[in-house]
Amino acid sequence: MAIRHFLSTQDWSRTELDALLARAAQFKKEKLGDELKGKAVALLFFNPSMRTRTSFELGAFQLGGHAVVLQPGKDAWPIEFDAGTVMDGEAEEHIAEVARVLSRYADLIGVRAFPKFKDWAVDREDRVIHSFAKYATVPVINMETITHPMQELAHILALQQHFGTTDLRGKKYVLTWTYHPKPLNTAVANSALQIATRYGMDVTLLCPTPEYALDRRYLDFAKQNVAENGGGFAISHDPDAAYRGADVVYAKSWGALPYFGKWENEKPIRDAHKHFIVDERKMALTNHGVFSHCLPLRRNVKATDAVMDSPACIAIEEAENRLHVQKAVMAALARQ
Ligand code: CP
Repeated sequence: MAIRHFLSTQDWSRTELDALLARAAQFKKEKLGDELKGKAVALLFFNPSMRTRTSFELGAFQLGGHAVVLQPGKDAWPIEFDAGTVMDGEAEEHIAEVARVLSRYADLIGVRAFPKFKDWAVDREDRVIHSFAKYATVPVINMETITHPMQELAHILALQQHFGTTDLRGKKYVLTWTYHPKPLNTAVANSALQIATRYGMDVTLLCPTPEYALDRRYLDFAKQNVAENGGGFAISHDPDAAYRGADVVYAKSWGALPYFGKWENEKPIRDAHKHFIVDERKMALTNHGVFSHCLPLRRNVKATDAVMDSPACIAIEEAENRLHVQKAVMAALARQ
C-alpha cells in the first residue's frame, strides 16, 4: 500500500479532515495518549520556528513518542536535492540517502522548508518536501513550505470552537494582506485560501493591487473548492468594502509574486500600503468579526495592540490548536 503523506489538505477528503479536527478537539480535552508509544518523529527545520517546533516536539511526547529536531546546514549536514549532480559544493549528502536513513530510524518525518525567494517558478515546485516524500519510506508531514496545512487545521478548529459549530458555511471570511518590512512567504495565505473555501465560507482575498494575488494554483483550488462546497471567492483591493459585514478577518503579509527575486522593485508598493494594518476602525466595520493570525506577528505593523488584545482576537487559541491538530495528524499517519 502506498504511504499516505500529509503535504496538503487538498490531498485529504473533507470527511478525513473533519475526523482529524474531531480527534484534535478530543486531544484538547484530554492531552495524553499512547498513539506514538515507542515511535520516533524526525523534525527537519530548514527555517526558524517557535510554535511548530515546540508543538510537534511536545505533541509527540504527549502521545508517548520521541521527537528529534534537525537543522540541516546547522546541526546536521547540508543536503543536495538535485539528481545526477556532481556534489562538489556545500552539500555533504544527498536527499536519496537522508530520507531513506531517517526512515530507518523514525516513524514520521516532518519538514519545514520555505522558498528561497529568488525564482517563484522554482519555489512553487516545493522540491524539498516532495523530495522527502519521494525517497522516504515513512509518512512525511508538511510543517510549512509553500503551504502550511497544520496551520490550516488549527485555524479551522479555532473558528469552529469560536462559532460553536463545525459548520462554517456562509461565513463571510476576509483574508487580508498586511504590510511587513520584508517580503514574506505566501504559504499561510495560500493555505487560508484553500481551507476557508474548503469549508464553504464566502471568501474575499483583500490585497493592495492585482500583483498581490496568489499563485494561480491556489486561486484555482479556491474556485474548485467553492464549486464543490458552496460559499464564494472574490478578490478586492478595497479594505472598507472587504471588512464590511465580515465574520472572520485573517491577516498575513506576503511578497508579490511578479517581483520575486526583484524585491527592491516591490518595496515601494508594499511601503505605500501600510494602511492595510488590522485596526479597530476596520474591525468595527465587521459583523462583530473574529480576528486571527498564524503568528509570529509584528504588533502595530500588521495589527494594532488594541486588536491583538481584544476579545475578538483568537490567535492564541489558534496557536494552541497547533498542538492538538498535529497530534491528530501524527496519530493518524502512525497507524498506517
Ligand atoms: N505559525 C507558525 O508556524 O509559527 P512558527 O513559525 O513559530 O513555527
